[in-house]
Parts: sequence; C-alpha cells; structure tokens
Amino acid sequence: MKILFLNGPNLNLLGTRQPEIYGRDTLASIEASVQVRAQALGVSVEFRQTNDEGQLVTWIQQAKGVVHAIALNAAAYTHTSIALRDAIAAVELPVIELHLSNIHARESFRHHSMIAPVCRGQISGFGALSYILALEAAVNVNHLA
Ligand code: DQA
Repeated sequence: MKILFLNGPNLNLLGTRQPEIYGRDTLASIEASVQVRAQALGVSVEFRQTNDEGQLVTWIQQAKGVVHAIALNAAAYTHTSIALRDAIAAVELPVIELHLSNIHARESFRHHSMIAPVCRGQISGFGALSYILALEAAVNVNHLA
C-alpha cells in the first residue's frame, strides 16, 4: 500500500515559521516520524512539498491509480483553491485533509476549507501528530463505510 503526503506553501519553513502556532519540528523531522510509523504499518509513504498551487494539482492528478490515498496539508490553499478541490473530486481517491494547527480556532478566514467537502475527513490541531493521525486514517480509510 502506498500513501502520498502532499504539503503546500510555506510548510518548507516549519521549524522556524511561527513556532508558537506550528511547533518546532521541521518538515524533514515530521517526515522521518511518519516514515517510522509507516514502516511499522508495512506501508510505503512518499512525502512532497511545493509552494506552487499548480504543482499540487498536477501531483493529485498523477496519483490516480498509483497510490491508495493522499494525506494533504494544502496550507493556505485550503482556504482559497477551487482548482485543488476540483482535482481532488476528479481523481476519486480518498484524500485526508490535515493541518498542524486547529484552523477552526484561528482567524475566521481559516475556518472555511474549500477542499473539506471533497475530502474523506479532516485532521486539524494536533501539531506534528496530525501527520501520524493522517497516516493512520489513510491506511484504514478503505475499511470505513
Ligand atoms: C495549516 C493551516 C493553514 O491555515 C495555514 O495557511 C498553513 C498551515 C496548518 O497546517 O495548520 O499554512 O495548513
């Protein structure tokens, strides 16, 4: 089983970016802990980051038929991107929306997720643990109703 983790804009800055909100873990260290858990679960994980909305759309399109599920931290594009929403709807793959921070407890413009209606579910507010929880969800999502 293969799970694709996609990370959007500014997540390359994790570790130094507003650590009071996003924590001090870097994306590389989060990936390392996801890989450890993935190995224990016997699944393969690929991790990518881009600041480019179009690149995320392309990666989602290319994932169809190649991976079992996508764990997506679309970062700010969560709140703005109809293109990402359309790509998710088009590929008919289970997509787990994930966020480090609790977007519902922050500024009102973060309360709305453009992608939530086409994702299987949302994990938000657990810091780096959100990624591990997203992995667990992605691995088990096909067992759910
Ligand atoms: C984020 C939350 C978004 O609102 C924000 O734009 C991000 C990160 C999170 O992981 O908490 O860049 O997706």
